[in-house]
Amino acid sequence: MIIEFVLNGTTRQVEVRPDEWFVETLRERCGITSLKDGCSPQGQCGCCVVLVDGVPKTTCAMRTRVAEGKRIDTIEGLPPAERKQITDSFTAVAGLQCGFCIPGLVLRAKAITDRNAAPTRADIARALDVHLCRCTGYVKIVDAIELLAAAKRGEPVPAVCTDGRVGRPLARIGAAQSVLGERPFIDDLAVPGMLHGALTLSPHPRARVLRISTARARALPGVTAVATASDVPGQRWYGLLHDDWPGFVAVGEEVRCVGDVLAAVAAVDRYTAREAAKLVEVTYEVLPPVLDPQQALAADAPRVNPHHENLLGHTVLRRGDVEAALATSPHVVSGTWTTQRIEHLFLEPESALAEPLPDGSLRLRSQGQGIFDDRRQVARFLGVGEERIFVELVPNGGAFGGKEDMSVQAQTALLAHLTGSPVKLTLSREESIRIHPKRHPLTMDYVVGCDAEGRLTAVKARMIGDSGAYASVGAKVLERAAGHACGPYRVPNVDVESRAVYTNNPPCGAMRGFGANQVHFAMEGCLDLLARKAGLDRWEIRWRNALSVGDTFATGQVLEESVGIRKTLEAIKPHYDAALRGGRAVGIACGIKNSGIGNGVEEWGKARLVVEPNGTVSLYNGYTEMGQGLLTVLVQFAVESTGLPASTFVPKVNSTFDLQCGQTTGSRGTLLSGRAVLAAGAKLKADLEAGHSLAALAGRVYAGDTCIRDTTALGAPVERIKTHTTFGYATQLVVLDAAGRVDRVVAAHDAGRVVNPALCSGQIQGAVHMGLGYALTEELRCDNGMPTTFKLKELGVLRARDMPVVEVILVEEPEPEGPMGAKGIGEIGLVPTAAAVASALEAFDGVRRTTLPMKDSPAARAMSVGFPLTAK
Ligand code: FES
Ligand code: FES
Repeated sequence: MIIEFVLNGTTRQVEVRPDEWFVETLRERCGITSLKDGCSPQGQCGCCVVLVDGVPKTTCAMRTRVAEGKRIDTIEGLPPAERKQITDSFTAVAGLQCGFCIPGLVLRAKAITDRNAAPTRADIARALDVHLCRCTGYVKIVDAIELLAAAKRGEPVPAVCTDGRVGRPLARIGAAQSVLGERPFIDDLAVPGMLHGALTLSPHPRARVLRISTARARALPGVTAVATASDVPGQRWYGLLHDDWPGFVAVGEEVRCVGDVLAAVAAVDRYTAREAAKLVEVTYEVLPPVLDPQQALAADAPRVNPHHENLLGHTVLRRGDVEAALATSPHVVSGTWTTQRIEHLFLEPESALAEPLPDGSLRLRSQGQGIFDDRRQVARFLGVGEERIFVELVPNGGAFGGKEDMSVQAQTALLAHLTGSPVKLTLSREESIRIHPKRHPLTMDYVVGCDAEGRLTAVKARMIGDSGAYASVGAKVLERAAGHACGPYRVPNVDVESRAVYTNNPPCGAMRGFGANQVHFAMEGCLDLLARKAGLDRWEIRWRNALSVGDTFATGQVLEESVGIRKTLEAIKPHYDAALRGGRAVGIACGIKNSGIGNGVEEWGKARLVVEPNGTVSLYNGYTEMGQGLLTVLVQFAVESTGLPASTFVPKVNSTFDLQCGQTTGSRGTLLSGRAVLAAGAKLKADLEAGHSLAALAGRVYAGDTCIRDTTALGAPVERIKTHTTFGYATQLVVLDAAGRVDRVVAAHDAGRVVNPALCSGQIQGAVHMGLGYALTEELRCDNGMPTTFKLKELGVLRARDMPVVEVILVEEPEPEGPMGAKGIGEIGLVPTAAAVASALEAFDGVRRTTLPMKDSPAARAMSVGFPLTAK
């Protein structure tokens, strides 16, 4: 059918399918890519908002035929002066991170400020109800909209910071393009002759595949290729630590979870590809799944994965004599704490674009957290040398650990290989949730003792985590949980064991916090219980036990430098005292999180500065930009080390140079790439100081390679235990209002050295948002291995109106091994949050909660999202 509407002032007639969603029409047929597709056809994230007759509307839940005769305005059509006002407002206050949600929010901001010249923060937050942002916690987005309103009233907007020195709030690299939706994500890209891919997934968590028939799919007009396991020319199984994850499940094998791939289709457009994927016929012998980790450890349990026994990982930490210490401790508390499975819900679903090149090699555009790992795994999958694949990062729309494992890279590359054409494959929201690994649900049994003065004597902990169908990095998550089991406290006797277990549930792996969040919920709960028994204030018991230089961390590492926990406690104290004096229900919790993987892993930072003929300097590094601001802080290190202005540097992440560093994980990007950039920059500076102009240095490549290789594996028989290079520290305060709603969070964090205060506080605000959802409303429930919902609202991610005031206090305890004293803060922002909420709730109603999410609480009931209490 032909639909006519006025798009940005021009009448358009477009031929569409009768059932077509308007987001598809605008993006695929009209080439309007400022709007993004985060959840179609749910209409629950706001990324696809446009103005329909001047009113903001989600286009993914609107049939195109409804647009007949309407006036449609997108960011592309806004007048230049208004576009500048908008970009200045968002950029000046760092009101964006990954940027995927921002174009939709921009049009909402326009509508809010057109309607109301002076909206309050509450007005703005309420108007953002349709919108989700997984990165920012909305704080700086509301700041930006306030600023936009002020600008429209003719008030001056603070200047965008262009000073790139360390410590300055340099504007995010490419911020204006991201705000306007001009910075392409992979799904925004199109190349000539491009086909579209789609996947056929298993509906069963465990079943034997008896037959796969692709005939009906191949017969659909527009289909170019249908691939199955038999088409894989190389090694079909991949994985970050174990090759236990098949790119396709073959006939005769078992499917192990509902994210398993049976077939991949390439077709002329996405709609045809997805229709064809549904036509792939698979015959299964359905088998009883293993859904509980305890059940999976039983002697007669079926083996979930043929490459490993069901016990994926077992970590043991023992120091001192725990039983004797507990027997003689005046105060002992114990309990079982449980946490839930969490979906990352990065707003950009997984996508890859593979393009055969004339010389027979392949260009792979990936949004993964480690593009060199992607290249390695794809090369083996295709049975070609790594040098045959040029891999390139397209900075992604959020990841939070969920884009470490392969998702669609291998299948997309295979389709391109089979068809000889470029292929783009983008997952739907449901497919995304089914495929990528989650945050582990953990069950933790704790016994903790202290002396009469509240000084900790012993921690005994046993924990088990459901790692789902594939190894991913699940064993490491449980290893890190064990290592952080005592929190940021001095504990002389330690007895901790953790187990990661395969089941037929969705896989679990890396997610911001990497096991530390779960154990802090338990350990900080024990601190509160001990404080009550010992008659101590909750701040005071933490102060008495907080780690100092010379103290021993749970892993046996004696801390030598940069132990910032006491500074964060001191920073929180006046706020804590004032809230108590005000008669408020207050919660407090501390946190510690490794920066760098450590545990005996050799870790590299690699950078190259290439002086280009046009007077710019390309800044290559081996880690991923995923909204956290890595590329911006690396430019700041380049500015510091060379003395050149920030505008000189153009960050790039691809395989032009061999900068294999592994995954962007463990809060290590700033730590390692920062060191590498400083090293490369010093060489460039030496040439500049020797009298060479930048123009004269065109073509020169300055290398910075740095390696940390002195950490020790857990339990290694070494004289000097150093499980981690360094740690971030935090203390957070949660204050409830008279109704028990979270009113205010104060987050004091030690960043070593604050490279960019605007980006740093933004990271922490966003993490607190994630931590509050973790505490109160977020959960990915599964029934028979299948998530019970794919609806964003039901996953419980907080909306803007749910957010309290978040105050960030940055303290600095410089790390000698970090670049100019810096260490990572990407994860620690939510490590203590759930525990601080539990502490506040107990102060409010006297109930100690030990299960997440705490949705039986007044704080959770006040939220606008989440499962009703009665839902399964
Ligand atoms: S993509 Fe339309 S609301 Fe999410
Ligand atoms: S900036 Fe909002 S989702 Fe990333």
